[in-house]
Amino acid sequence: MRAYDLILKKRNGQALNGAEIEYLVEAYVTGSIPDYQVAAFMMAVYFRGLNKDETLALTGAMVDSGRRVNLDHIPGTKVDKHSTGGVGDTTTLVLAPLVAAAGLPVAKLSGRGLGHTGGTLDKLEAIPGFKTGLTIDDLTNAVLKTGVAVAAQGPELVPADKKLYALRDVTATVDSIPLIAASIMAKKIAVGTDALVLDVKVGRGAFMKELPEAFELARAMCYIGRGAGRDTAAVISRMDQPLGKAVGNALELKEAVITLRGEGPLDLEELCLALGGWMLCLGDKAGNPEQGREILKGFLDNGSALEKFKEMVENQGGDQGIADNLSLLPETGRKIAVKSEQEGYISGIDALKIGEAAVNLGAGREKKDDPIDPAVGIVLEKKTGDKVRAGEVLALIHPREESSAQLREAVEKKIISAYEYGAEPVPSVPLICGWIDREGEEYHV
Ligand code: URA
Ligand code: CA
Repeated sequence: MRAYDLILKKRNGQALNGAEIEYLVEAYVTGSIPDYQVAAFMMAVYFRGLNKDETLALTGAMVDSGRRVNLDHIPGTKVDKHSTGGVGDTTTLVLAPLVAAAGLPVAKLSGRGLGHTGGTLDKLEAIPGFKTGLTIDDLTNAVLKTGVAVAAQGPELVPADKKLYALRDVTATVDSIPLIAASIMAKKIAVGTDALVLDVKVGRGAFMKELPEAFELARAMCYIGRGAGRDTAAVISRMDQPLGKAVGNALELKEAVITLRGEGPLDLEELCLALGGWMLCLGDKAGNPEQGREILKGFLDNGSALEKFKEMVENQGGDQGIADNLSLLPETGRKIAVKSEQEGYISGIDALKIGEAAVNLGAGREKKDDPIDPAVGIVLEKKTGDKVRAGEVLALIHPREESSAQLREAVEKKIISAYEYGAEPVPSVPLICGWIDREGEEYHV
């Protein structure tokens, strides 16, 4: 086989067979095809697309490039969850212990923040002592012991994704639905969970800005999941304004703990219960997602989800005392109030701008290896639909003690510009716009 012929075939709009796709991925990872040919192939895919079976074959070839995590010796249905990335989205920190409290083992490998979206690992590492760098054996042992562990995905899993993503990133081929679907699903399939619930975000703070493309991505991922023998469902949720109130690592961890106490922001709780309801349903702990949701609400209210969170923290070397005393978490010791310059109803909050403002404060990385500051971030005091008067506090900035006045002013300006106003009350829009069930049936709210 020659890479040239496969590039030509895709450039001309023809479908590749499984053997051809496997050849490309394997030869690329082992270094026998150069970057420039794979870059040309990715661009051909960007314009010509991949059909469902090509996407499934690409995913399988990517999984085969590395190790797989074997969870077979852990009893029970292992259910994972994946989000396509949002701003202020703390759901994993709530869901992992919550679903484990319901008796489903959760072995989760997570990533770090990417661009304006935060990463679960960065949030967990705000807990003093918490270790995310577990070996695969440590991970499975932790799950056997407490039913839940969240750790960093190591380089031995899906090395093809790392190499392909870096290439896509510099060749303007990241935002291709089949390539995104294969990249995400390869990482999920390499972890041997039985079932998977996907949270596909849509809106201006998300990769997918419009509903039809969000459904297309969800459909592609569900097809891959089913094709790989995993029970898969997807929920499509809005990411126009940040989720909850907190954006920033320790601030979001606090928000997660408050949500585990049953006192969290309603939108965050709603999303956790919706995704968790599906997880219970796929794990056969509930007959349907609504029933799953009721069960989980009970575990938030009776303290068992918070208890499971403490076990998880302790098990991974962290100080579980933070769950009862949130002031043990890193804090900046400085807060700046951002005040409204006008009156009206908040008609929207641009999640992308808030995410960028948090990165500017040091909550995320501008470059891949930048250090992050766990304490900094933004707390939104007003959300979409709220009525405000001029001079009322919209948000609190938690900046680094030593940050420059120039930076603080720029962040304040960005936050003010993220808030949009209307003269009339704003009708509320449902957070969840649809879902795809385990059979692939689609539902629109
Ligand atoms: N997230 C991923 O893991 N891969 C992509 O290609 C895009 C988003
Ligand atoms: Ca939040």
